[in-house]
Amino acid sequence: MELTPPVIAIDGPSASGKGSISRKVAAALGFHLLDSGALYRIVGLVASRRGVALDKGPLVARLVEGLRIEFEGDDKSEGIIRVDGEDMTREIRLESTGELASQVAAHPEVRQALVRLQRSFRKWPGLLADGRDMGSVIFPDAQVKVYLTASPEERARRRYKQLKEKGISVNLAALSAEIAERDYRDRTRSVSPLRPAADAVELDTTDLNIEQVVEQVMALVEEKLPGLPT
Ligand code: DC
Repeated sequence: MELTPPVIAIDGPSASGKGSISRKVAAALGFHLLDSGALYRIVGLVASRRGVALDKGPLVARLVEGLRIEFEGDDKSEGIIRVDGEDMTREIRLESTGELASQVAAHPEVRQALVRLQRSFRKWPGLLADGRDMGSVIFPDAQVKVYLTASPEERARRRYKQLKEKGISVNLAALSAEIAERDYRDRTRSVSPLRPAADAVELDTTDLNIEQVVEQVMALVEEKLPGLPT
């Protein structure tokens, strides 16, 4: 009998489909869900609103302690996110917030300040952790580690469609450029750069639809965590 709840880590670059895949796999297994990107988005947004310089890691990290973050309702769907009682769900999903998140995420102090909070999501019957360094840094003992990729063009198309469905208007060319810039920053930062954990299974989803990716991830889960209700 394992003493700690199992973890499935799904990492990968922006708009690789991690969010949708993670929600579906978590729901199928009845697992809790950690959207770690949302935490970096919250920190970036709050820092910017309060006028904290985003290039001052220790100052931004200090914000984290005082924040009351609530993922409301059903944690298996894209639920409401409240910060200090304010509904920030919509603002958190904006591309401009992703940009702020990527900036604050480059600071070791900020990453360190979020470690304990992220690990606190590990509860029975298990956790699906979605992010950039779930399998490499936050949950190195995760039983299942998946690294999702897709071509930059396909990722820009996916993000465009997703934002449009939410009524957020964007320009595809500008979006592509932003994704490329964010990828570059996430990959080249000195602390926890975006890269697959040594023992992660890489899955290129460029030509796969969501159901096909979910199927492949579920097959991996069945192999590594036998006995779960897959
Ligand atoms: O997955 P996302 O687009 O919501 O993430 C927003 C930014 O946060 C992304 O550009 C990089 C950063 N991030 C990170 O550094 N580590 C994580 N575990 C999750 C997100």
